[in-house]
Amino acid sequence: MGDQPTKNVVWHKTSVTRAERAAIAGQKSAVLWFTGLSGSGKSTIANALEVRLNRAGKLTYLLDGDNVRLGLCADLGFSEPERRENNRRIAHVAKLLWDANVITLVSFISPFRTERETARKLIGVDFLEIFVDTPLGVCEMRDPKGLYVKARKGEIAQFTGITSPYEAPENPEITLHTDLESLEESVERIIALLAQRQYL
Ligand SMILES: Nc1ncnc2c1ncn2[C@@H]1O[C@H](COP(=O)(O)OP(=O)(O)OP(=O)(O)O)[C@@H](O)[C@H]1O
Ligand SMILES: [Mg+2]
Repeated sequence: MGDQPTKNVVWHKTSVTRAERAAIAGQKSAVLWFTGLSGSGKSTIANALEVRLNRAGKLTYLLDGDNVRLGLCADLGFSEPERRENNRRIAHVAKLLWDANVITLVSFISPFRTERETARKLIGVDFLEIFVDTPLGVCEMRDPKGLYVKARKGEIAQFTGITSPYEAPENPEITLHTDLESLEESVERIIALLAQRQYL
C-alpha cells in the first residue's frame, strides 16, 4: 500500500521501431492539438482538415473531446482535476496514435496551459498547438450546442469562459481567428504549416 502504482513496471522495448512503421505507412505523423473555447470552431476545423488530409492520402484520426467523453473518459466530469485527467488521457492516446504513424487531430477545450505543455513534452517536436482564438462573445452568439444559454441560466456548472477558466496558449504554432477568416482559410493555413514542416 502507498507505493507508486508503476513502481514495479518496466518499459518493454518493442522489436519493431517507429521508424520501421513509418517506412511502411509512408507518412510522417504529427499531433495537431486544437484548443479554444466551446463553439470556437475546433471540431469544425479539425473535421474539415481531416477531410483534406484524407483526400491527400494521409492516414489520420480525430480525437474529438465529446466523443472521448462518451467512451474512454465517460467517468470524468468537468471539475479542474477531472479536466486535467481528461487532458492526460487524451495526450497519451494521441501519443500512441502518433507512435503508430497516424496524423492525429485532437479537438477539445483543453483549458489548462500546464496540461497542454505536458502533452507537448510527451510528444515532442511533432506536437503542433493550434489556438482557435475566437472571442467569447462570438462563441456565445454561435452557441452551436445551446450550452452558453444553459450556462448563463446556471444549468451547467464549471463552464469554460463563464464559470471555469480558459488559459490561452503563449506560443502556439498557429493562431486562428475564426471571426475574421473563413473555415477554408483556417484549413489552408494549417495545410501550409504541415507542408512547411514536411508532413505533406
Ligand atoms: N470560420 C469558422 N471556422 C470554424 N467554425 C465556424 C466559423 N465560422 C462559423 N463557425 C461556426 O462555429 C461553430 C463552431 O462549433 P464547433 O462545434 O466546431 O466548436 P468547438 O470548438 O468544437 O466547441 P466544443 O468545445 O463545444 O466542442 C459551428 O457552428 C461553425 O459552423
Ligand atoms: Mg467540439
